[in-house]
Parts: sequence; structure tokens; C-alpha cells
Amino acid sequence: MIVLGIETSCDETAAAIVTDAREIRADVVLSQLDDHTPYGGVVPEIAARAHLEHLDGLIRRAMAESGLGFADIDAVAATGGPGLIGGVIVGVMTAKAIAAARGLPFVAVNHLEGHALTARLTDDVPFPYLLLLVSGGHCQLLVVEGVGQYRRLGTTIDDAVGEAFDKTAKLLGLGYPGGPLLEKAAALATNPGRFDLPRPMVGRPGCDFSFSGLKTAVRRHVEELGLPLSAEDQADLAAAFQNTVAEVMADRCARAMRQFKEMHPQGGALVVAGGVAANKTLRARLQKLADREAMPFVAPPLRLCTDNAAMIAWAGIERLRLGQTDPLDFAPRPRWPLDPSAKPAIGKAGVGSGVKA
Ligand code: KG4
Ligand code: ZN
Repeated sequence: MIVLGIETSCDETAAAIVTDAREIRADVVLSQLDDHTPYGGVVPEIAARAHLEHLDGLIRRAMAESGLGFADIDAVAATGGPGLIGGVIVGVMTAKAIAAARGLPFVAVNHLEGHALTARLTDDVPFPYLLLLVSGGHCQLLVVEGVGQYRRLGTTIDDAVGEAFDKTAKLLGLGYPGGPLLEKAAALATNPGRFDLPRPMVGRPGCDFSFSGLKTAVRRHVEELGLPLSAEDQADLAAAFQNTVAEVMADRCARAMRQFKEMHPQGGALVVAGGVAANKTLRARLQKLADREAMPFVAPPLRLCTDNAAMIAWAGIERLRLGQTDPLDFAPRPRWPLDPSAKPAIGKAGVGSGVKA
């Protein structure tokens, strides 16, 4: 089976061709970074227009790279949500048009499921596994029991961790996108132990996360030091923030591991996915934890952690193998939780709280 995948939910326009033999035949990603940098973050309307402008060309490039023609494609999969509605509409409409024109099945993929199943594309990880999903919009611990079968153990009660990286990088004057720039700055720290930051939620029962207090603590240090920060201050604060996030993640994961082992005594791997999974300090900390708990640890290659279409094509393949396709009147879903039965996290104030489901 050969599937064309399309990803347009945020600020990367991407197309990929993947086979059910776990082979990535083409994987092209166009970052819209230059379009959004002047605004210090993603502007939804600009994103939607950029997807519209570039998607056709990217699909053509992916086809050319794979050496395949449309006649070789068995299905089209596109991100159907969650994400910025304008972009999702562009990807979904394009996929539907190709599917209709070629008489192919169409699959609307949950972007989070794309991240969640990446470890099966890269490492053939068997179900069940424990997933730490860390991206710009989400921060969750989930038990992945099968395709479409997720049990959420914890989520953030305020910011997503990628959002915390982005906002903290802004506070430090590092610019956008925050995650990779903050990681770079932290690598230059001469005194990573200089700042003592609070560790939100550490030691607390449950597996929920919180990052707003950590961000506020960084802001206080920045105010005390005065702007603009020296490169040394930037680096030391970035390292303190990054190490603290890794410690918080390890504490939350350790608790989730205990719950996972109770649910599935036969065991399974700890998997990390999403853009923040590209962070090397976090990866190393999770590896150490998994070693201690005698659990295999799987982190996809950096390129497949951040948004891409190979993961969407692969999630499409997983669903197609179960006979699941979507009708051509599928409506994009800007909000689309992986575990619809999960209760809102404690501290969620509802509409307008800024909390992601
Ligand atoms: O999964 P992703 O590409 O897009 C979403 O679905 O949100 O994740 C993007 C997020 C951004 O917040 C970005 O700052 C963060 O992932 N990120 C990182 C790193 N690379 C990307 N955060 C920390 N360290 C990194 N190396
Ligand atoms: Zn993502």
C-alpha cells in the first residue's frame, strides 16, 4: 500500500509518500518561518494563504522525489485537525480533490495521532505503549492501546510545553521559534546551576503538567537582570529552564509509568513524540528514566518529531489497514482530542482559559 500524506495544520506545509512496508519514499516540508518571524509567532491567516500557495508544488515535488505517479498511489491522507482551521481546510480540500479525481480512498488523520503513531513507522513499536506527546499545542501522557485507542493519564492545566519554550525564548530575547533557539542558547551556558527555578507539579499525585509558574519565575529573573540580557545570562537562564522542564517531565513520566504498568503488566515502551521531543536534554533525561524503570525508550529521529507529512501518511496507512476511511464530506475539526472520554484537567477554567484539550 502506498499513501500520499498531507500536513497543513500549523506553520509547516508538508507532503510525503509512505508505504505499508514502513518505507518513506518522499518527505518534503516547507517551513513558513520567514512569513511569521516578523510577528513573533504564527499568524493563522498568513499560514492558511501560504499553505494554499505552496501545497500543490510540494505534492508535485514529493511525487517526483518518490519516482511514483498518481496511478501508483492507493489512498490520500490529510490532517483533518486539530489545528488552525484555515490551514486544515486547505489540506483537506486538496486531499479530497485528489481522492475524487483519482477515485481513491480519503483518510482524515488526527494530527496528534500522526505524532502518536510515528514510533511505529520508525521503530515498529508494538501496542500498548506509554506516550509523552509534547508539542506547541499539546502536552499529554497517553496510553496508546491501538489505532484510535488512547487513554489520557495527564495533560497540562495551563500552557503546552512547546508554548512554554516559545514564550520563555521570547522573554530571554532569543526570538522565534523558541524551542530550537532556546536549546542552542542553553548549550552555551557556563553556569547552568546559577538559577534555581520552581518545578511545577513535581511530587504531586497524578500526571498533569503546569508551566505558567515556571515562565513567571523566568520573567522575574529577566526583570532583575534587566534587558537586554547578556549572552551569558541568556544561556544560563535557558539551561536552567530546559533542565527544569526535563526534571518535571521525568517526574510526571515516572508516575505515568507506574499507572501504565498496573494497566499493562506485560509492559511496553516509553515513547516521546511531538516537536519538543526534538530536545536533546529532554531525550537524554527520559532515556535515563526508562533505563531505571527497565522500559524500552523510543524517540523518533528529530526530523520526524516536528510537524511532517510522513507521520500523516503513516497514520493513514494504520487506519486503512483496519478498513477505516472517511467520506468526502468530512468536516475539518479544529479541536479533536485523542481521548474524548478524558475529563478536563483540574484547574481548567473552561472557555477562554487558554488550556488545550
Ligand atoms: O509538533 P510541532 O512541530 O507542532 C505542533 O504540532 O505544535 O511542535 C512545535 C513545538 C514548538 O513549540 C517548538 O518550539 C517546539 O516544538 N520545539 C522544540 C524543539 N524543536 C521544536 N522545543 C524544545 N527543543 C527543541 N529542540
Ligand atoms: Zn505537531
